[in-house]
Amino acid sequence: MKIDKRDWLFVGVIVLVLAVFIAISGKEKTKLVPLNADHQKFHDMIKEGKTKKEVDPLCESCHDGVKILFPKDHPIKPGGQPMRCLFCHKLKR
Ligand code: HEC
Ligand code: HEC
Repeated sequence: MKIDKRDWLFVGVIVLVLAVFIAISGKEKTKLVPLNADHQKFHDMIKEGKTKKEVDPLCESCHDGVKILFPKDHPIKPGGQPMRCLFCHKLKR
């Protein structure tokens, strides 16, 4: 089988995708949701079977960007929707 230009392009794309994948996976160090008095009830709710989507909006009673500030480079709220906090911040075990 002769390897032509298109084959090399294909190999290149795969290598690129893999490289990006590895680069991102190494960076999984987003802070965990602490296991303390402020956050205990959310850990319990998830354990009781509530979905992350049901729990997410409750974070903003404290983490509203006023009482507790987000870091400057924090991902912003998409158009009035509650942020999917637990999508990024995993629960500490
Ligand atoms: C009762 C108030 C309150 C609620 C509700 C709350 N938090 Fe927090 N959270 C705090 C406080 C206080 C801190 C620590 C203060 C700070 O980091 O400035 C904190 C810190 C954090 C941190 C940073 C931890 C670290 O290691 O620095 C994360 C992540 C976090 N909260 C996620 C969440 C998520 C997700 C929810 C919703 C499921 C939530 N919090 C709901 C009060 C709250
Ligand atoms: C798209 C992903 C994403 C979403 C959604 C998200 N965060 Fe974050 N958050 C991050 C990243 C990335 C950082 C900065 C890295 C870090 O310190 O964890 C951060 C940092 C924080 C910190 C500061 C941690 C510290 O002390 O340095 C808090 C508190 C926090 N987030 C709370 C929340 C809460 C509450 C919500 C929901 C209202 C939320 N985040 C939604 C990605 C996200």
